[in-house]
Amino acid sequence: MTKTSITFTVNGQETTVEAEPRELLIHVLREQLEITGPHIGCETSHCGACTIDIDGKSVKSCTLFAVQADGANLTTIEGIGNPDSLHVLQIMFREHHGLQCGFCTPGMITRAYRFLQENPDPTEEEVRFGMAGNLCRCTGYQNIVKAIMAAAAELNAAQEAAE
Ligand code: FES
Ligand code: FES
Repeated sequence: MTKTSITFTVNGQETTVEAEPRELLIHVLREQLEITGPHIGCETSHCGACTIDIDGKSVKSCTLFAVQADGANLTTIEGIGNPDSLHVLQIMFREHHGLQCGFCTPGMITRAYRFLQENPDPTEEEVRFGMAGNLCRCTGYQNIVKAIMAAAAELNAAQEAAE
């Protein structure tokens, strides 16, 4: 099948790839660009393991054809923090044991990153609702919620200190 040239920004870097119109964005990210933080769980838009941020929205990257991302600004877990400079969400997931096997974690943190921008001072119930599209097969939800609440508190304290 004919390939189409697609240009998008991934984690701050403009990137051009060639993909067939049928290719899903998650496959192009993982297989062509070797950006393997977003995981493939269900490939049917249920589990959220493949969640990335596209133009300021949380998107399940198995839901989109790669060609639909042409011109978009993409952020994956690799663009949120790295081992030398962890995002506060990553620190709080570690401190509050917000992961067990870790398979859902990149999608969880990427969704939480956007959720806390949508709602910087959430209640626990709002965290659960905001994260409802991300499933954890280890069912460690209590600590995931704790980690996100703690990250919200840290981010708000940092914001207040900066004002
Ligand atoms: S792999 Fe995309 S939602 Fe499950
Ligand atoms: S920590 Fe195992 S799937 Fe969530």
